[in-house]
Formats: sequence, structure tokens, C-alpha cells
Amino acid sequence: MEIAIAADHGGFQLKEKIRAHLIESGYTVKDFGCYSLESVDFPEYAAKVGHFVATENSLGVLCCGTGIGMSMAANKIKGVRAAVVSDAFSAMMTRRHNNSNVLCLGERVLGDSLALLLLDTWLAAEFEGGRHMTRIAKLAELEEREEDK
Ligand code: RB5
Repeated sequence: MEIAIAADHGGFQLKEKIRAHLIESGYTVKDFGCYSLESVDFPEYAAKVGHFVATENSLGVLCCGTGIGMSMAANKIKGVRAAVVSDAFSAMMTRRHNNSNVLCLGERVLGDSLALLLLDTWLAAEFEGGRHMTRIAKLAELEEREEDK
């Protein structure tokens, strides 16, 4: 599977570590930038990963200082279910119950080891379907309704 990644300057260093970790784990990585510590605006990078994930039915990882701005921006893209997490239980549950397709991590919040553990936990967890499928469908309906306004 190809995993899309991106970061702003606040998450750049973590994104670099994540890219190396994913490649080492056997994933193909599509890196949408940024490519240095120069200040950039996170919504642009969240949109790139969000569009890729939604159209390719893939997974994405976004890093910024807190992970919060990236999650806010990514969730504006139709078809994206982005979750910012900083604990392993949430990382697991947001896949099992929310079928999240974008993981957002905060470089200024997490140590590298914890960030990679959260990533591995998220990737290893599987959507449970069933009653959660109904809720995911309702999220999509909500998205449609808001778009029509
Ligand atoms: C950039 O300074 C910082 O605001 C950004 O990386 C992120 O944390 C926003 O949510």
C-alpha cells in the first residue's frame, strides 16, 4: 500500500523519521512535502494528502507542531476521516471504530519513539465494520448535507 505523508515546518523532522520508518517497514511512501524547516502553511499540505487519500482510497499521515491544525484542515476534504492522537488506545480505536484514513501527529507534543509506536499501532488496527459502518455512513451523509448548504 502507498501511504501519503506531509508536514509543515513544525512537523518536518518527524515526517522525515516517519518516511524512513515506513519505508523500512515495507510501505511505499508518497511524500508531499514540505522539504525543509522553512515556514509554510499547513492547510496546503493537509489538502495534498487529503485529496490523495480520498481519491486513491489510501492512508495518510500528517505532522505539524501539535497535529491539530493538520487534522482540522484534512477533515475539510471530502472523504477524509483524520484523527489527531497522542496515546496508543486512541490510535487503535480511531481505526477500529472510526475507520480513520489520516493520522495526525504533533512533533512538539510527542517524542519520536512514541510517535512511531502510535503510527505502528494505527496501521496494525483494523476497522471493525458492523454498527460502526452505519456511523461512518452518517459522517459521509453529514458531509454531503453541509456541502449542499
Ligand atoms: C506552526 O508554528 C504550528 O502552528 C503548526 O505546526 C501546527 O501546530 C498547527 O496546528
